[in-house]
Amino acid sequence: ATNRTFTMIKPDAVQDNHIGGILSMIEAGGFRIVALKKVQLTPERAGQFYEVHKERPFYQDLVKYMSSGPIVAAILEKDNAVADFRTLIGATNPANAEEGTIRKKYAKSIEANAVHGSDSDENAQIEGDFYFPANEQF
Ligand code: CMP
Repeated sequence: ATNRTFTMIKPDAVQDNHIGGILSMIEAGGFRIVALKKVQLTPERAGQFYEVHKERPFYQDLVKYMSSGPIVAAILEKDNAVADFRTLIGATNPANAEEGTIRKKYAKSIEANAVHGSDSDENAQIEGDFYFPANEQF
């Protein structure tokens, strides 16, 4: 069964002109782009998106970083989408990311780690719907 995940290209990767490079790796990895847009989060929206992390020590910095410039949000489709996308992006900390992964190539630090990827089917649905109404998902 084909299913979906959700990703964001984070502010530093957008700023550094890596949208095309990252989307190329995503399509080459067998993912179909279901929805796509460039948007800047307010601190309030960024805080809401990352609400699950609100008790973590990095939360305030993360909200500030994720609202510091535009991001690219996308819904992606592939068999086994969530797990396969996490393999394609590599470890959260780029120091631990494998060769050939998006974070190995583009991430700068554990915070400015180039891309987000959903951690479950349930969160993929919630996160995709946070950005895209049903009539923007194809
Ligand atoms: P992401 O996969 O989007 O989920 C939470 C984000 O918090 C993570 O990527 C990083 O950008 C950021 N972050 C900053 N510090 C940490 C940390 N120590 N552990 C996990 N995530 C962190």
